[in-house]
Amino acid sequence: MSGRFYVTTPIYYVNASPHVGTAYTTVVADALARYHRLRGDETFFLTGTDEHGLKLQTEAEKQGMTPQAFVDSMSERFRALLPKLLLTPDDFIRTTQARHEARVQHWWARCREAGDIYLGAWEGLYCVACEEMYTEKELLPGGLCPVHERPVGRVQEESYFFRMSRYADRLLAYYKRRPEAVRPETRLNEVVSFIEGGLRDLSISRTSFTWGIPVPGDPKHVMYVWFDALFNYLTAVEDQGRAGRFWPPDVQLVGKDILRFHAVYWPAFLMSAGFEDDALPRTVWGHGWLVTGGKKVSKTRAGGGVSRGTTDAVRLADALGADALRYFLLREVSFGQDGEWSVPALVGRVRAELTETVGNLLNRALPFLAKHFDGLVPVPGEPTDVDRALEAAAESAARGAAEAWGEPAPHRALEHTIELARAGNKYFDESAPWKLAKSGDLARLATVIYHVLEVVRQVSLALWPATPSKSDALRAQLGLEPMAGHVGADLWPHTWGGLASGTKVAPGSPVFPRYDAQQEAQIFAALDVSADDGAEEKAPPAKAEPPPAKKAEKAPEKPVNDAPPPPPITYDELMAKVDLRVGRVKTAERIPRKDRLLKLTVDLGEPTGPRTIIAGIATAYAPEALVERQVVVVANLPPRDFGGGLVSHGMLLAASTADGLTLATFEKDAAPGTRVK
Ligand code: MSP
Repeated sequence: MSGRFYVTTPIYYVNASPHVGTAYTTVVADALARYHRLRGDETFFLTGTDEHGLKLQTEAEKQGMTPQAFVDSMSERFRALLPKLLLTPDDFIRTTQARHEARVQHWWARCREAGDIYLGAWEGLYCVACEEMYTEKELLPGGLCPVHERPVGRVQEESYFFRMSRYADRLLAYYKRRPEAVRPETRLNEVVSFIEGGLRDLSISRTSFTWGIPVPGDPKHVMYVWFDALFNYLTAVEDQGRAGRFWPPDVQLVGKDILRFHAVYWPAFLMSAGFEDDALPRTVWGHGWLVTGGKKVSKTRAGGGVSRGTTDAVRLADALGADALRYFLLREVSFGQDGEWSVPALVGRVRAELTETVGNLLNRALPFLAKHFDGLVPVPGEPTDVDRALEAAAESAARGAAEAWGEPAPHRALEHTIELARAGNKYFDESAPWKLAKSGDLARLATVIYHVLEVVRQVSLALWPATPSKSDALRAQLGLEPMAGHVGADLWPHTWGGLASGTKVAPGSPVFPRYDAQQEAQIFAALDVSADDGAEEKAPPAKAEPPPAKKAEKAPEKPVNDAPPPPPITYDELMAKVDLRVGRVKTAERIPRKDRLLKLTVDLGEPTGPRTIIAGIATAYAPEALVERQVVVVANLPPRDFGGGLVSHGMLLAASTADGLTLATFEKDAAPGTRVK
């Protein structure tokens, strides 16, 4: 690959502390930057804070602080989040920095020289939270802002305007020629229809407050915060003397709520300032939101209420660890769409995929090295068909993941990688190294263990953009140096066999958190998550990543439930308390935007007809595969409300295996409604 890659996040308003919604964009940008560093690309990753405007002046006044003191302290919170989430930007820009103010004044002058800035009168409806003007028809009923659902204000003042109307045709022609400049495609369509609807000239200065960059030559005006903020993307690379190498940005990540600013205003400002089309940002990527209960996680509107727990990014990073939080954000959300934020879902996913699939694979293999190969990576023999199939799976996973990172589609990239770890576990089971050890077939054992360790090495590399410190911990146990990108060196695992035989492994404690019942309860308590919140999305019961030393020689069992067993009960108590019934699935369907859930109707032989049951099994079963299947139903749980009109009237029994969930069923036909005992 070895090219260059410039990725940006929006710069964050500092009116409140960073939350998981804003951390999301920065995590995606960091992962993309790390991926490109791994590929040997020269990479520049920019993030920072947006510190001017009425919103911040008002917030500072509320706190009894000067605006500068207020933004200094708040910006520091965003900066402090960087190491906590292993975020590695090449610059952290603040719009109150002198380097930025001087440059924005320069760009203003350029636009004015181009005849695009004129003085006029500004009147209309303004949302201070958005820092944007609205027309009556854009508002929600009751005159509310469509993003913040709060009343807008009427404003009237002298203002400088930018001749946005002049750029409509050029923008439309540009997007026709370069549709990839706005992604995904649906967002391009939104942008194009907005432009086609007619562009009004844009008010770009204010006289009613002072917290902004003064307009050159007319300092009673300060610049509109978006004119100021958008140019940050140029300031940083120019200030570092790297604009020649990095301009224009390759990917500008923005939430869908600020797409218009980036895909209409921003290129128009650049065009006016003299930028040719090929010097405009290559792709503006409008991603979805993290939501709780269907509502955007945000600082101006409380996330999902107390039971959903905190959304404060620092508290989450402290309680969950950077790698787990990053992994979940990248893996759970289909990039581009909205994704549900939920701590229980995070715990479930990390346990199922990182602990029980990736960590487990390493822990199953290491004991064989200590016992039979002096702790050194063995020399593999001639590969058999089974070995070759695993090698092919690795190559295809590396190719698929690379393509997906390039898209970018981190969720798919990670799916390919986890799929490889699953294939590694299956290979381990089928090759039964414990039998090879027992029968003394050390040559074959060497080949099998080599293959498993090479899979772990490849997985650790391919996970590195998402889970850098855990990847390095996996590598350390394999006796490898921490990952560091080198410009010009493509370190992606394209080919099989990068693990050198003879490398001394260094087994240690399990790399991934075990999240047993007790740890899970502690995390929920630390984050104010109520115990049953999101329980439907949890992976099935806690299972341990087994400590390596105990696994030697025996057929390494499937992960077991290491939560302390509940106290004994009598048969009568069981029958009195738990009503298990035979069910037969009648219909099964996916639920839009709930990737893990299926909506089923299940016949329990009741006169009222089949019950609706919402089950967290969508990752393991296609809906069509479930129809007419016999299942075990817990029939006397109270109804559970999943929101959006989804209420579940029962629960299916299932177990989690290294290959995913498996439903409990019956060997012979049993009539729906039969009691299970
Ligand atoms: N300051 C402007 C951006 C200027 S860029 C030149 C701004 N700041 S913001 O702090 O309000 O939002 C910054 C980004 O965070 C936006 O892309 C927004 O979509 C994103 N997010 C805020 N809440 C979010 C979620 N709940 N989920 C995903 N992204 C979220 O707008």
